[in-house]
Amino acid sequence: MGISETAAAKITIDPAFSVGPVRRRTFGAFVEHLGRCVYTGIFEPGHPQADDDGFRTDVLQLTRELGVSTVRYPGGNFVSGYRWEDGVGPVGQRPARLDLAWHSTDHNVVGVDEFAKWSAKAGVEPMMAVNLGTRGTQEALDLLEYCNIDGGTAFSEQRKANGAEDGYGIRMWCLGNEMDGPWQIGHKSAPEYGRLAADAARAMRMVDQDLELVVCGSSSPGMDTFGEWERVVLSETYELVDLISAHQYFEDFGDLQEHLSAGQRMESFIKDIVSHIDHVKSVKKSAKQVNISFDEWNVWHASRDESKVPSGKDWPVAPALLEDRYTVGDAVVVGDLLITLLRNTDRVHSANLAQLVNVIAPIMTEPGGRAWKQTTFHPFALTSHHAAGTVLQPAVESPVVSGGQTAGFAALSAVATFDAEAGEAVVFAVNRSVTDALTLDAAVADLGNVSVIEAATYANKDPYWQATADDSTSVLPAENGSVTLDGGRLTAVLPAVSWSMIRLAVEA
Ligand code: AHR
Repeated sequence: MGISETAAAKITIDPAFSVGPVRRRTFGAFVEHLGRCVYTGIFEPGHPQADDDGFRTDVLQLTRELGVSTVRYPGGNFVSGYRWEDGVGPVGQRPARLDLAWHSTDHNVVGVDEFAKWSAKAGVEPMMAVNLGTRGTQEALDLLEYCNIDGGTAFSEQRKANGAEDGYGIRMWCLGNEMDGPWQIGHKSAPEYGRLAADAARAMRMVDQDLELVVCGSSSPGMDTFGEWERVVLSETYELVDLISAHQYFEDFGDLQEHLSAGQRMESFIKDIVSHIDHVKSVKKSAKQVNISFDEWNVWHASRDESKVPSGKDWPVAPALLEDRYTVGDAVVVGDLLITLLRNTDRVHSANLAQLVNVIAPIMTEPGGRAWKQTTFHPFALTSHHAAGTVLQPAVESPVVSGGQTAGFAALSAVATFDAEAGEAVVFAVNRSVTDALTLDAAVADLGNVSVIEAATYANKDPYWQATADDSTSVLPAENGSVTLDGGRLTAVLPAVSWSMIRLAVEA
């Protein structure tokens, strides 16, 4: 449904409307042993651009360009059947195992040590998940000891013997993955999981009080148990964990206007989780504040063929799975989801785009060949590189649009960041209308004297355009020539289905 011919949205940006800091961890990603994310994704010995450790340097370079902060590993559904010990020690002696989650075979050529080495090369913070599906507290402790104890114990000495002299000092640990999902190996009821997560957390804190622990929330807002799961699990774990996970994926079912309501749906999911957390906090009369780790989010066209998992006697090694190709419209949704995560920086303390390479990913590779950027790469990279300082909540007056099941949501989604020290403010804005351009009218006088550094917009006449290995550059974020600045008033035309970033120099 359209809005109007002269659609305009007003926003006011004021440094007084601070929500909290821009957190680097908002720009995390995810590497799972799934499809070609690890093998022929980050790791491909023999590839012309592989380094001495077998890591693809083209992918390392793109990971840095994407501006990824934290990388969650090794799953995902994979972790719930994973024996981490299989992936350490001499490669020739590591066992091949069935990966039940993705009906594949994993030769365990990449394990914890390789991932830690890759993370250091990529300049990212590793975030580790433990298996609370088929395993429990003891194995979580063993892995923690292997990773983080400097030496003098069986597992730490094993790590040293495997070539890593110093402990990895991994701070963030996920206590399992999506344990409410019936598809999960070792799926549990909320009381069962809450009890196990509390045990594991208590014991892990006995090793290191300062770990940052993430307990599993519901695997999506659509789960029948969403809410009650959070209540029961947090009732068991509230004082022992720092964050509760949120996962949410968005699919385009053929109605782009509906798809573009994704940011609105994520916003309401976050608000709901916050209510569930704060309910438990209040019942417990706790002084502690648990926050959200939004550790899986993205567009995922899960009902398409790309997501068909092998079956029967076919247990392939690193098959092409979940290799979604993204449109410009999908990229606008991804940009809007990042805006939403930033707008909720007071409660969303960490987030991970799922995933990094090949599997529902911004970076794609050809085995033995090229690496290239999907459309979704661009809003993520630009937001990660330019959002800094404090997140400002703009006051927004916007026309509304309706799509599919989602009625009456704002056509404009916006957030601002302000780095007083660097003297820079950035406005990130999405026009969610599929039919109308939107004139953004922003009151920026409260920031001080401003001038435009750069205004970039990502949009295309055909919002279904997709990048390919042969052509990943003919649609790129381009200068938005419509921007005007008159005193404290900034205006810009935001095309239909577009993501924009306007960078302002601010004189104090
Ligand atoms: O990211 C793909 C899968 O989605 C993950 O393995 C799982 O946690 C989620 O359901």
